[in-house]
Amino acid sequence: MGSLKNRDIISILDFTKEEILYILDLSKEMEKKGCPDILRGKVLANLFFEPSTRTRLSFEAAMKRLGGEVIGFDELGTTSTVKGESLKDSVKIIEGYCDIIVLRHFLEGASRLTADSISIPVINAGDGASQHPTQTFVDLYTIKNAKGVLENLTVGFLGDLKYGRTSHSLAYALAHFNAEMYFISPPSLRIPKDYMEELELRCVSYHEVDSIYEVSDKLDILYCTRIQKERFADPVEYEKVRGVYKLSKSIMDGLKVKDDLKILHPLPRVDEMDESMDTTSYAVYFQQAHSGIPVRETLLAVILGAI
Ligand code: CP
Repeated sequence: MGSLKNRDIISILDFTKEEILYILDLSKEMEKKGCPDILRGKVLANLFFEPSTRTRLSFEAAMKRLGGEVIGFDELGTTSTVKGESLKDSVKIIEGYCDIIVLRHFLEGASRLTADSISIPVINAGDGASQHPTQTFVDLYTIKNAKGVLENLTVGFLGDLKYGRTSHSLAYALAHFNAEMYFISPPSLRIPKDYMEELELRCVSYHEVDSIYEVSDKLDILYCTRIQKERFADPVEYEKVRGVYKLSKSIMDGLKVKDDLKILHPLPRVDEMDESMDTTSYAVYFQQAHSGIPVRETLLAVILGAI
C-alpha cells in the first residue's frame, strides 16, 4: 500500500481496496478512542461554492475535534469569485493560508484542476454531478457497521442516478467487493454511460430497472437518493420525474424485502423518504450522517501525516 500522507482525494478510483479497508479500520479506532490534539497547529480551508450541511460541518467538527483550525466560506457570493477571480488564482492564494483544502464546486473536474494547480492536499467534497469520494468512505463505513461485511452484497441504488454523485462514487467503490448492483431509476435518470463502462471494465454484475417492486426482495442494501433538482437544465424535465419514488413505512409493508435490509441515504431528503421510515429497522441514514465525523477525522489525520 502506498503512503496516504499528502494524498489528494479526488476520485474514489484513486484508492485501492487495501487503502479503503485501512481507512475504514482506522475510522473504527478513531470512533472508539478519538485522537484529540493530533492536528494542533494545522489549518483546514473549507471552500464551499455549493450548499452543504453534513459535509462542511462534519469536516469542520472533525478538524476541531483533532485540535486543528478551520477557515473558509460557504457561498460563492462572499468571495472574490464575484469580481471575476478564477478558481485557479483563488486556490493558489488560499494554499498559503492553510495546510489542506476541502472543495465543493458545481463544476465537474474542479477538484482535479485545483489539485493540479497547488501543492497542498485537496479533498473533493463534491464536484458537480461527478463524484463525492469522502461520502463514499462514510457510506462504506455505515454498510460495514450495519452488515458486518462489505463483500458479496446485493445493493440497489434508487433515485437520481444521472446527477447523483454519491451513487457514482459508491458504485465504483463497491466494485472492489463483488457487489451485485441494481440501478433503479426512471429511464431519463440512468447512470451515465462512462460510469457503466468503468463498472463493466471491473466486471461488475449490474441490472437497470424502473421499479423497486421488481427487485426489492433481492436487496441487502438500498441506497436511496434525492432527485437533484438543481442540476436540471430544463425545469420541465425535473417536473416529469419529481416525486417519482417515495418510500414510507406503509409502502415498505407492501414490499417484499429481506428482514435485515438496510437503507442508506446521503441526505438531504426531500419527498423520497417519508419520516415514517425513520423508526423502522431498515433506516441507518442518521447513523450514516454521524459517521461523517470519525471517517473525516481519519482522512484528515492520515493525509496530514498525524497517524
Ligand atoms: N451528503 C451530503 O453531501 O450532504 P450535504 O450536501 O449536506 O453536505
